Amino acid sequence: MKITVTKGALKNLKGDLLVLLMTRKESKKEAEKKLSMFDIAPAALKDFNGKAGESLLLYQNGSKPKSPRVLLLGLGDAAKADDFRKSSEALVRRSVLLKVKKLVLDCSSISAWSATSGEPTSMLAEYLVDAAKNASYRFDRLKSGKLDKGKDSGKDGKVLLKELCIRANAGSLKAVQEGVHRGSIIAEAGNLVRDLVNMPGNLLNAEEISEAAEDSGRKSGCKVTVYQKEEIEKLGMGGLLAVNKGSKAPPTFTILDYKPHCEPVATVAIIGKGVTFDSGGISLKPASGMGEMKCDMAGGATVIGTLEAAARLELPVRVLGLIPATDNMPGGAAQKPGDVITTYSGITVEVGNTDAEGRLILADALTYAVREYKPDTIIDLATLTGACIVALGYGVAGMFSNDDSLAAALYEAGKHSGDKVWRMPLWEEYDELIKSEVADVHNIGGKGAGAVTAAKFLEKFTEGHASWAHLDIAGPAFSASKGTKPVSGGTGFGVRLLLAYLRELK
Ligand code: BES
Ligand code: ZN
Ligand code: ZN
Repeated sequence: MKITVTKGALKNLKGDLLVLLMTRKESKKEAEKKLSMFDIAPAALKDFNGKAGESLLLYQNGSKPKSPRVLLLGLGDAAKADDFRKSSEALVRRSVLLKVKKLVLDCSSISAWSATSGEPTSMLAEYLVDAAKNASYRFDRLKSGKLDKGKDSGKDGKVLLKELCIRANAGSLKAVQEGVHRGSIIAEAGNLVRDLVNMPGNLLNAEEISEAAEDSGRKSGCKVTVYQKEEIEKLGMGGLLAVNKGSKAPPTFTILDYKPHCEPVATVAIIGKGVTFDSGGISLKPASGMGEMKCDMAGGATVIGTLEAAARLELPVRVLGLIPATDNMPGGAAQKPGDVITTYSGITVEVGNTDAEGRLILADALTYAVREYKPDTIIDLATLTGACIVALGYGVAGMFSNDDSLAAALYEAGKHSGDKVWRMPLWEEYDELIKSEVADVHNIGGKGAGAVTAAKFLEKFTEGHASWAHLDIAGPAFSASKGTKPVSGGTGFGVRLLLAYLRELK
């Protein structure tokens, strides 16, 4: 989607749809004056209250207006980021239904909204653009279009929004342009994550994740290093190698490194689970819903997206991204329940269940990150447990941290970005549940607290690092059914959360 910014007179702007964005207050006070510019009877306003995301479609009278269709779009109280996101998402949904190719969005009042929300004008433009690009995302690259008829349609038969033109006053033009730039970067990173998550297991294996990281690094200027199986063996990454044993495709371990031009304010390592397909291995999962397990590399994809955006936004933070990647398959050579493996740290693990594979590959990457980079902060993201979905549902990630200030910062970043996280405990009592009779630790706990025991397992591989957080994104990373969300599949959860966190580091 192309985005342009203009200060041209609203009446002269041409588009398939002209959108008048207004707050609840404006819908009562100034709307009548605005509508009179367009030869629309003010009686229409009786049906419009300006609630965030509310819309009312009207048609201009007169001969040949530049934009015959006018949409009133509610902005709520223009008080918080969510008001802007909600209305922008509603706008895109409506545009798709109306087969709009170019829309003109009137943001003439953006400096007033900046005052009501207490946020800079550029941030408001960023929210609008990010949400619009996110909402117009479609995963259609695997559709050949051979069975579709008709011109101008996307490959899934829908007309796609091609251009968004934002109208702002001369005084706010520069700020709006800055926001458009940043919003585009963030949405492109989010949509890259969604693309990767949506790629099925046969089209995205560990090597292809590494290639995606390399492509992204070339685009953003991050340094990318890929360790192949031989090097992983030399490093002694016994967790990653054990999970890979049942697979025909070799594992990879990818490291992205973004160094700012200035002296970094901090070094943050982000680690993402990159299981390109999780069959469960010998502890095979039930057939129903197994296809969703193509999403099991969402943590790894989030690492790629976050690094790309951090570099393109030129954040003053050094960010490292680490992705251990493999699929988890049964096979003659696959690891077996009861096996004991030695991880990169030297810690031995009894593998009670081969379906608890994410923690095995993350264990190696966590220890590697601590030893090699000594980062100030380590954050891992993983579609780790079904138990976390039982606890928190599909909208929220479980957060575990040994650092109260990191947990508080991530909680705030979650609220602000919309990628919400909720803290869960790491109390000592849970250690009992992952004791092993034959090895240092067991990869599964007993009944109950499945998300917590997974986190307690990971904690053992952080070598006592004082600032670590684990985010279990099994619920929010992937939307299985059309349900409440407009599009199913990868959601891009985590990119906006991490960027909001990184942007607050000073
Ligand atoms: N990848 C799954 C977790 C998952 C479940 C992700 C649902 C997304 C949606 C993970 O590897 C897994 O299989 N976990 C097991 C752990 C159990 C064997 C201790 C689980 O949650 O059942
Ligand atoms: Zn599993
Ligand atoms: Zn898994």
